[in-house]
Amino acid sequence: MIHTKIYVVKNPDEMGVKAADLFEDVIQSKPACVIGLATGSTPLPLYRELIAREKAGRIDFTNVRSANLDEYKGLAPDHPQSYRKFMQDNLFDHIAIKPENTIVPDGLAEDVASMCCNYEAQIEKWGGVDLQLLGIGHDGHIGFNEPEDYFPGMTHEVKLTEMTIDANKRFFDSIDDVPKSAITMGIGTIMAAKKIVMVVTGADKKDILHKTFWGPVTPEVPASILQFHPDVTLICDEAAYPL
Ligand code: F6R
Repeated sequence: MIHTKIYVVKNPDEMGVKAADLFEDVIQSKPACVIGLATGSTPLPLYRELIAREKAGRIDFTNVRSANLDEYKGLAPDHPQSYRKFMQDNLFDHIAIKPENTIVPDGLAEDVASMCCNYEAQIEKWGGVDLQLLGIGHDGHIGFNEPEDYFPGMTHEVKLTEMTIDANKRFFDSIDDVPKSAITMGIGTIMAAKKIVMVVTGADKKDILHKTFWGPVTPEVPASILQFHPDVTLICDEAAYPL
């Protein structure tokens, strides 16, 4: 039996509306909350909805703090494919959030280990993540925590799998341009969030979604650990819903 709250919606736009409701609730009850954010295609309808709600006066991001899940190693913040740039273009540049209140792992850090420790420390100083947004990879990754034989704890460097490099090549000129490693929050960092919302759309995610919430909890499917989190909401569209 799983504890996850599940909402099955018609399509990605409805996913955006439903997920925005959760963000609106958290921001209204705690204006200086900490939100954990993800990149990728799936959250885009949500980000459009959040922008629209701030314009309509329903949400105010002025005091919100945000921490992103991951960043490619070796990409500068202004690189067109960096996750920092993605966040600026698709959300931060359109809302009132203060630049100093948004953190994304530094893909250019020379001392990666200490950058990762500082990243964790900043989140802790802010009081921890109130609401963490997650997408899911076809191999079950969350952030860039790829299938392993253990669950990695804190923010760390990872080598990307062939499957992930292949899935992400659509954003680059060629597969050779896709970075081969990244910095990601760990599974422990993610599990420490008070609330988690996972958004999943499209028939291609159906199988992995089934393994994640209806299969055994195993580091071979990193997202399956979410079955052990006490406050997870899954919002998926009909195409992705596996039952
Ligand atoms: C991105 C991230 C990844 C994505 C996943 C799904 O910050 O953490 O785990 O959520 O790769 O990506 P899309 O939504 O593009 O299918």
